[in-house]
Amino acid sequence: MCGIVGYVGRRDCTDVLVSALTKLEYRGYDSAGIAVFENGKIAVAKTKGRLSDLTAKMEREGKPKGHAGIGHTRWATHGEPSDVNSHPHSGRRVTIVHNGIIENYKQLKQFLIENERDEFLSDTDTEVVAQLLDFYYDGNPIRCIRKVLHELRGSFALGIVFADRPETVYAVRCESPLIVGQGQGEVFIASDVPAIIKYTKDYYLLEQGEIAVLKNGAVQFCSLHGRMLEKELHTADWDEDSAEKGGYPHYMLKEIHEQPVSVKTTITPRIEDGLPDLSECGITPETLGKFQNIFIVACGTAMHAGMVGKYVIEKLARVSVTVDIASEFRYRDPLLTTNDLVIIISQSGETADSKAVLTLAKKTGAKTLAIVNVKGSSIAREADMVIYTHAGPEIAVASTKAYMVQLSVMYLLAFEMAYAKGRIDRDECRRLTSELVKMPEVIESTINSVVDMCQFVSTKLITADSLLYIGRGLDYALSMEGSLKLKEISYIHSESYAAGELKHGTISLITDGMPVIAVATQNSLLEKTVSNIKEVKARGAMTIVICDEEADIDPEAADYMIRVPKLAELLMPMVATVPMQLLAYYTSVNKGNDVDKPRNLAKSVTVE
Ligand code: F6R
Repeated sequence: MCGIVGYVGRRDCTDVLVSALTKLEYRGYDSAGIAVFENGKIAVAKTKGRLSDLTAKMEREGKPKGHAGIGHTRWATHGEPSDVNSHPHSGRRVTIVHNGIIENYKQLKQFLIENERDEFLSDTDTEVVAQLLDFYYDGNPIRCIRKVLHELRGSFALGIVFADRPETVYAVRCESPLIVGQGQGEVFIASDVPAIIKYTKDYYLLEQGEIAVLKNGAVQFCSLHGRMLEKELHTADWDEDSAEKGGYPHYMLKEIHEQPVSVKTTITPRIEDGLPDLSECGITPETLGKFQNIFIVACGTAMHAGMVGKYVIEKLARVSVTVDIASEFRYRDPLLTTNDLVIIISQSGETADSKAVLTLAKKTGAKTLAIVNVKGSSIAREADMVIYTHAGPEIAVASTKAYMVQLSVMYLLAFEMAYAKGRIDRDECRRLTSELVKMPEVIESTINSVVDMCQFVSTKLITADSLLYIGRGLDYALSMEGSLKLKEISYIHSESYAAGELKHGTISLITDGMPVIAVATQNSLLEKTVSNIKEVKARGAMTIVICDEEADIDPEAADYMIRVPKLAELLMPMVATVPMQLLAYYTSVNKGNDVDKPRNLAKSVTVE
């Protein structure tokens, strides 16, 4: 989704804005632009395309020179990607950049037209906000911003400059994320910390309706009601290197390789005396023991981590777990009570639908637990309890390490819940936990052992138009993620099916040479899965089987076998995930796709 940056300081503002926007590229975008105070006037440069197109345009037409300004990468919502729809947008005296959606922009546009403000150049909702700010501007920026905030409906973060307030940047947030970075005599705004980490690790989190005024290298905050605010300064616990590729050709590959460390950093502080201990997250065995129903709600990959969580929690703790897609759950009037626990899983902590579910769940009195990677994100701040995953910044759009740490948290929760409910005894809980502790090493050796085979098998996939992922039980939950990973970056149509369901319709799709990737790591279901593999093979499918190193699978059933270490059945997802990620990665590379920034996708989905 769109990225916002802003700067006030002594450096060359255009350079800072472009460099900061580069670090937000992972969010996905189709156009870019900046507005900089140049000799007291606002100079704007913007274009459809990548940041390199913007830089080239500025080289041709002149680069704005100054020390204060705002910048933007746009992911089109209202209006096609084009030069004119690119941000910044301006009224007569006001120029803005915007992330999010203004739901009532049509009514506001009508209001402006009726008041003889019909100078619209673009199709965007953002331009309406720029014009509205201009309409109400009486020389007092804060009063004007507050007035407009009361009229806007939707989710948004804005960076604003007023032509008669040179060297000053205003910022405001409502739902969409925005941080304010504080350096030595310089200040920044950004949609996310990676944008500014090169310059400073210190930042403030802007809350709902708060306004920031950046001037003379310092920042002041005021509330929606105009009250001055003191805010807490946060410090990022990672540095620029963590957000760079570190010698890998793509962030995705780097992040796959970071999984062992991410899992270790996530689980180690949550284990005490060999048992899970989530008390630092506000979770005690007493709290976990009392819930009647558990709802796990999330989007995409995070929802798939929840699917694995369902199998593991139900199996061990014998509590009913419902997993749902946030965009569906929020509109289906869910049956929640004060005895229920709603778990929201989100890497970014800013996903609009997941956030809406959290608000809804809180209204019903259900307890809410957020499993979130980005510190201080909206979902993390609003939930009753939060377990941070410590994956570090995930830059590639296709989630890998965030999924892996979400899985590891699912296990910790399941173990603690099962113990709290008396379903497993202390020794069993210790034994399971000790297996989890071994995972970082096991994941590392899995990456090394399967990488060549995945690279090879990917060459067999690149010509496919369509493929299937199949599995049973936990393998089915896993195959959902394998299928999503593959389709989002390789652009090959892919679906995941419960292997036993194929005969009820889908098997008619199998044609000669169609790839079917079978995840077959659950020993108790192995025979049945192998039968399903043979059924598709008999109909011409090219079969690729992901199984453990000891699995006894008829070589006739599998064209290619990718073997991972053998673990307890419940833990197999922690290793079987790796070949699925690498298959997707190498297929995308072999097809020459933009692996880290797949078309049409955004990293953080802050609109519905
Ligand atoms: C796919 C992917 C997405 C996200 C989804 C939710 O690789 O990353 O499916 O999982 O958009 O995002 P978060 O976890 O930030 O709520």
